Amino acid sequence: MGKNKKKSESTDPEPTRRSFLVKIWAGLGMIAFIEFVWVILAFLKPRKPRVVGKNSAQIITAGSVDDFPHDSVTTIRRGRFYLSRLSDGGFLAMSYKCTHLGCAVTWDSEKKLFECPCHSSAFNINGNVISPPAPRALDLYSVVIENGIIKVDTSQRIKRKKFNKEQVAFSQ
Ligand code: FES
Repeated sequence: MGKNKKKSESTDPEPTRRSFLVKIWAGLGMIAFIEFVWVILAFLKPRKPRVVGKNSAQIITAGSVDDFPHDSVTTIRRGRFYLSRLSDGGFLAMSYKCTHLGCAVTWDSEKKLFECPCHSSAFNINGNVISPPAPRALDLYSVVIENGIIKVDTSQRIKRKKFNKEQVAFSQ
């Protein structure tokens, strides 16, 4: 009888199953611990400082003054802005973003209007609102013209209520 009991204990699958589950739990515990350490290290890691100054990637060279006809708009894809050359020869660099909810406006050279596909706002070549709901003129980027080369600083969008002549950059 005692011999039989011993035999049945040795063939009982329970200890094997239990040790397998213990190993699984130990493995999961180890994974959780590694994730925890990783999260802590990621939290403590020093963050990259924000770029405060201007870097060369934010200054976009649009081209030579002579490349742009008077009364025209050119898309500068690299900087995601439009360069308007007004009838008096001055330049404005304007953001793609509609001032209503930020959809990208497109230039219609036939109508001479920037149009927003989202809620039908329209802007003229100066960026002034012709048709709401856009609440204000298209945002500007600062334009500098050096030796006939147009450079646009895309590091900061300049908000404005409407166009005025002081916003226009001229070649010296
Ligand atoms: S986002 Fe342009 S009109 Fe609404």
